[in-house]
Amino acid sequence: MRLLFCGDVVGRAGRDVLIAHMPRLRQELALDFVVANGENAAHGFGITDKICAELYGCGVDVITTGNHVWDRREIIAYIAGDPRLLRPVNLPPGTPGAGHGIYALADGRKIMVVNAMARLFMDAIDDPFAAIDRLLGAHPLGAVAAILVDFHGEATSEKASMGHFCDGRTSAVIGTHSHCPTADHRILAQGTAYMTDVGMCGDYDSVIGMRKEAAIQRFVSKMPGERLEVADGAATLCGVVVETDDATGLARRIAPLRLGGRLAPCWPEELAVPVMAK
Ligand SMILES: [Fe+2]
Ligand SMILES: [Fe+2]
Repeated sequence: MRLLFCGDVVGRAGRDVLIAHMPRLRQELALDFVVANGENAAHGFGITDKICAELYGCGVDVITTGNHVWDRREIIAYIAGDPRLLRPVNLPPGTPGAGHGIYALADGRKIMVVNAMARLFMDAIDDPFAAIDRLLGAHPLGAVAAILVDFHGEATSEKASMGHFCDGRTSAVIGTHSHCPTADHRILAQGTAYMTDVGMCGDYDSVIGMRKEAAIQRFVSKMPGERLEVADGAATLCGVVVETDDATGLARRIAPLRLGGRLAPCWPEELAVPVMAK
């Protein structure tokens, strides 16, 4: 199975780069399933039902989130009615929406997507390791063809630990939240594809997607200062492509994908479908 996971979509610039590239990416990389983290899609803070529809419309199958999930309050009433929009699984019992979903491809293969959130330098929430353990006990690889975990967190140590904790039990563990891509994508010892952070889909001429000036001023003055506004220059699409073995559910290949904007492009040549000569 060919999966594409796209990092935190930040504002209109992030949405635009996704919409511009997704239809051809689905074709050129022969993608079976696309997941994007949408926690910053609405002007940097949260997501709306309209933006969910916009992302589904361009070819995103499932949207994950993180600490910004409730920033736009209208999503609280919406999320329970949309099984393709996930919030972190380890929020307290009774939280609206779901932290995982099992989705069927057109050919019948099933994929489970899990959204979990780390705790180091983050809000004190329920244990993500225990939550993932319970889910993988109930829905092991084999019962589903592939399992993708979006682990949303700040500390690289906690994210690496989650990768190894899931090794051999999920197809991939991909980190989000830092908005900066790491260079440590690899297949772990037992066959799980891992990347500490996939980066953001947003304007990198910024401070993690927000306009530079106000962000810098907060550090310089140590005063609240003006409101952070989303940076709206040309965005980079930051994603990672994972190819899984349908027999085992484990990863065969993992390759970063970066297109547009300020970051150096990164195209997974070895995964591209050969274009027939005309
Ligand atoms: Fe984010
Ligand atoms: Fe976040």
